[in-house]
Amino acid sequence: MTRLVRSITEMEGRFEEKWVLVSDDEPEAWASDRPLAIVGHETPRTTGPTRVSGAARYTTDVSLPGMLHVAALRSPLAHGRVTGLNREAALAVPGVRAVLDSTDTLSFRSRSGPLYAEPEHAGALLAVVAADTLVAARAGVKALALTIDPLPFVIDVDEAFRDQRIDGEIAEESRGDVDAALAGADVRVELTVETPTQLQTALEPHGAVGWWTEGELTCWVSTQGIFDARSELAKRFSVAPERVRVVADFIGGGFGAKQGAGVEALLAVELSRRTGRPVRFINDRHGEQLDAGSRPATRQTVRLGATGQGDLVAIDSEVLTSFGMTGWRAVNTPAMTLYRCANARGVEANLKLHLRQGNAFRAPMVLEGVTAVEQAMDELAITLGIDPLDLRRRNFVDVDQPSGLPYTSNQLLACYDRVAELSGWVGRDALLEPSEDGLLRGMGCATQIWWGGGGPPSHATIRIGGDGIATVVTGIQDIGTGTLTAAQMVAAEELGLPLDRVRVTGGDTRPNVYGPVAGGSQTSPSVLPAVRGAAAEVKRTLLQLAGDVFEAAPADLDLVNGRFRSSDGALDEPYTEVTGKLGNATVDGSGMRGANPDGMRANTFGCQVAQVAVDPGTGEVRVEHVWAVHDIGRVINPLGARSQVEGGILQGMAFALSEEVAFDPTTGVPTNAWLDDYKIPSIADVPAMTIAFVDVPDTALNNVGAKGLGEPPIIPTPAAIANAFRHATGRRALALPLTRARVVETLA
Ligand code: MOS
Repeated sequence: MTRLVRSITEMEGRFEEKWVLVSDDEPEAWASDRPLAIVGHETPRTTGPTRVSGAARYTTDVSLPGMLHVAALRSPLAHGRVTGLNREAALAVPGVRAVLDSTDTLSFRSRSGPLYAEPEHAGALLAVVAADTLVAARAGVKALALTIDPLPFVIDVDEAFRDQRIDGEIAEESRGDVDAALAGADVRVELTVETPTQLQTALEPHGAVGWWTEGELTCWVSTQGIFDARSELAKRFSVAPERVRVVADFIGGGFGAKQGAGVEALLAVELSRRTGRPVRFINDRHGEQLDAGSRPATRQTVRLGATGQGDLVAIDSEVLTSFGMTGWRAVNTPAMTLYRCANARGVEANLKLHLRQGNAFRAPMVLEGVTAVEQAMDELAITLGIDPLDLRRRNFVDVDQPSGLPYTSNQLLACYDRVAELSGWVGRDALLEPSEDGLLRGMGCATQIWWGGGGPPSHATIRIGGDGIATVVTGIQDIGTGTLTAAQMVAAEELGLPLDRVRVTGGDTRPNVYGPVAGGSQTSPSVLPAVRGAAAEVKRTLLQLAGDVFEAAPADLDLVNGRFRSSDGALDEPYTEVTGKLGNATVDGSGMRGANPDGMRANTFGCQVAQVAVDPGTGEVRVEHVWAVHDIGRVINPLGARSQVEGGILQGMAFALSEEVAFDPTTGVPTNAWLDDYKIPSIADVPAMTIAFVDVPDTALNNVGAKGLGEPPIIPTPAAIANAFRHATGRRALALPLTRARVVETLA
């Protein structure tokens, strides 16, 4: 029985109630102690050979007959007014088919842009040129011979604050009486920290190939959300969603920056509509590093008040975010939720600066908030003379304080215990002994909190035919996380088939099997329960058919590892004895994610410990080891999960040590918007990593017991590293990243 119910859905902390389709036939959650044959066992990702052999088709690989190529003209100034563009000269370049700039009336709806006459950040799109070849398109851009007048710009936080360049309302949330509690506290600490602008730097840049044909629209997009891209294209171009097909076979990362269709798809489709040709618009690396979004820089002041025993009595957090011209506010989430505290206040303002637009980047806002709150907690532990992990245990809280709702599961205390045991935390002061290599060593910790419970709507279908291969259709776009492999494992587990009898597809809206955007750590907890539901339906039918073929009672049969078995063991036949009789018929099943439990919040938790070695002479900080323990409910694929944590740690480490957009203060233009001088880590920077999971299924949340893992691993890493630096050196660098210059200055 299928029903429509109202259910709360959540994406990166934004809650919404919607109608969702649910099924009464959804399987019960797997019991925690139930042995599973495939789920929970290390499984190499099944797309591996396709990826490493080069056979995988990414959006950048799509090549169609007659396809045009797009080159972009971007603003060389942080703020300016275009005074001249020679369109005729561009159109006269051999091979150039179309030019668009801000004077063109586009056929899609847009509030502003995406082509500007008065750009408000360096790299903003001014014009695009479509040509038979990329070389011709670039020549066309050059022929435009841009002239542009500079206008005044503001990229400095202090200047913007002084001028009160604030976007919208200042957000304030609070409970209790923070001022009184701070005044009455036995101890107080106050810390102002800064976090840098970080660029997503996905290996595959943003891009799309758009093809408009007779009112049908096909678009290959490097996106985290094929269905969001479909609805965006449908809405903007006023086409029915059913006539729009979005394909993303393989995606070379997104990290939050690739939600929806993106400006590249909109312009590719527009140009295709005008020229009648398929059009490819892929950002070049400089364009990507200039104008594909960012994690905005923050300045945060955190005040904590506590009793002499270490019980928090007040948390006060003030945040300035440098978001570009507009953005949302969530940096104070950790201040309001991470620890038990009756009096808490968060104030948050976005400064309007002439910077590229900020957008989602792996744990957007929460990573920044944790980075400040967890350094303040470290200072509080030092002030009180309490072990930093003990301080955190002491202030552990098992409800979501802003809503008052309990968590579906929370194994944070177990994470603390396990990470302490793995890292040898209690003996960490031994690192402070002078060492032969002259490096200063120390260890620090930080807590992780994030959502990641997923929810409906999310669907899957499974079809098995005469060849015995079960094909799972999902709306998953696997952005590199291994979710397709996890779906294959869940399907094989429930069906009772070996892994290689199951095929999983995703990345295409044509079958119209909906999956959510690969964001907010929601794919696994949303889609896998739907996959399991579909598999359960197929298995029920297969057992009935086996009853017909073997003249047995279906209830007495099971399908295990590809064999039908009776409970007394007398019958033991390969499943192909049944599927082989299907001929051209198929057995089909469909599944859907059930509603989230009422009156509960689903969150992930964790703790990381970092060990650093600091060279006081050169200022170099090396992360020597990171220990990470997370609570993500049931771990579907331990191999894939560990790999996800490794990536998060590296990205968090780079945020703490090397990634930062530098600007020329005289022009407001980024000086390092390339890959050679914008420092993401290389293999030589990889620290030792010890990764573990508490692995207790969240049976209240969904039928597979899994929570998400996309975002959690990056969240505590920067604060753990900053705290390790403090432990090693006795100093705290108030701004990240801990570049050599900043370290030398801090230690001086
Ligand atoms: Mo969000 S940063 O796309 O998970």
